[in-house]
Amino acid sequence: MNLVKKVALTNHCDDRGSLAVIEAGKDIPFQIKRIYYIYGTKHNLARGFHAHKTLKQLFVCVSGACTVKIDDGKTSNDIRLDSPSEGVLLDRPLWREMRNFTEDCVLLVLASEGYDESDYLRNYEEFLDYVK
Ligand code: TYD
Repeated sequence: MNLVKKVALTNHCDDRGSLAVIEAGKDIPFQIKRIYYIYGTKHNLARGFHAHKTLKQLFVCVSGACTVKIDDGKTSNDIRLDSPSEGVLLDRPLWREMRNFTEDCVLLVLASEGYDESDYLRNYEEFLDYVK
């Protein structure tokens, strides 16, 4: 089973360059309450290692590339994010690990809720128990 939900963003490309659009409720199935981005990540380091109970997120690698591992407790898939013209939707409790960041990687994350530590599952066993 492929857990990766790719979202093709509308890209307006002309001879000046490209403009990608993400509209809440239209391109993604949630309202955006928070935006953050991960950058300056060392190539040999990994991040993430958690899931969310209710948070929905869209990941877009707006510069460079990184690999995201997505795991639902039964299956796991790796996806290389290397294009600012598409995103990946994480819309249910999915364990994620990000690695193999290029030096210029900027991983943009749009989130459905504000930061709430109680929504995190930071322990893999706890995550497996939550999704079973
Ligand atoms: P962390 O969850 O460790 O990042 P990653 O998923 O990439 O491994 O977050 C790093 C720090 O940033 C941690 O101290 C929590 C803080 N943080 C916020 O304060 N607000 C946020 O919206 C996010 C995503 C993280």
